[in-house]
Amino acid sequence: MKAEERRSIALIGFMGVGKTTIGRRLARRLDYQFADSDAEIVRRKGCTVSQLFSEHGEPAFRRMESEAIAALAVRSGLVISTGGGAVIAPENAAILLAHCLTIWLTASPGVVLKRVGNAETRPLLANSGDPYTHVRQLMKLREPQYQAAAHLRVDTTDRRPEAIIEEIVEWLRQEEGWEN
Ligand code: S3P
Repeated sequence: MKAEERRSIALIGFMGVGKTTIGRRLARRLDYQFADSDAEIVRRKGCTVSQLFSEHGEPAFRRMESEAIAALAVRSGLVISTGGGAVIAPENAAILLAHCLTIWLTASPGVVLKRVGNAETRPLLANSGDPYTHVRQLMKLREPQYQAAAHLRVDTTDRRPEAIIEEIVEWLRQEEGWEN
């Protein structure tokens, strides 16, 4: 398959599952460009995600997120790391499924908490009295939407990035006929 016929790849899933880390490495491995929907919003608006949540509210952030997803999904040659809530809106999930290969990364709640640290940059997890229960419940709630938006699911719990990348590359070879 020629490079220009290959769809972009979108990484979806909860905060802290490794979308950015895996996305950057996967892009290098495939000779694709890396893009990040949160970074795209920050670039367009000139302030951080936390500021957008506190100054404009979550609904405004979600509208900006939908615009960013729509703009990125139609481009080719990208590995797109999406925000953890991006596929909760059905129109975002539909556009990603139609234009990209979507890979759902998962991790246990404990691993997610370890990776997001004090969660200051994640407004949805900041100031939670019981972060473990909060993460577990929100993850459970979102699971059906992640599932519905995914072409492939890959667990990242206690796995090295290299092993995760190889699993994805192998799937691209077997299922999509990519030669990498
Ligand atoms: C969010 C996840 C964040 C960011 C925002 C909301 C969510 O992205 O978009 O804080 O709703 O899960 P990451 O998944 O990259 O942390």
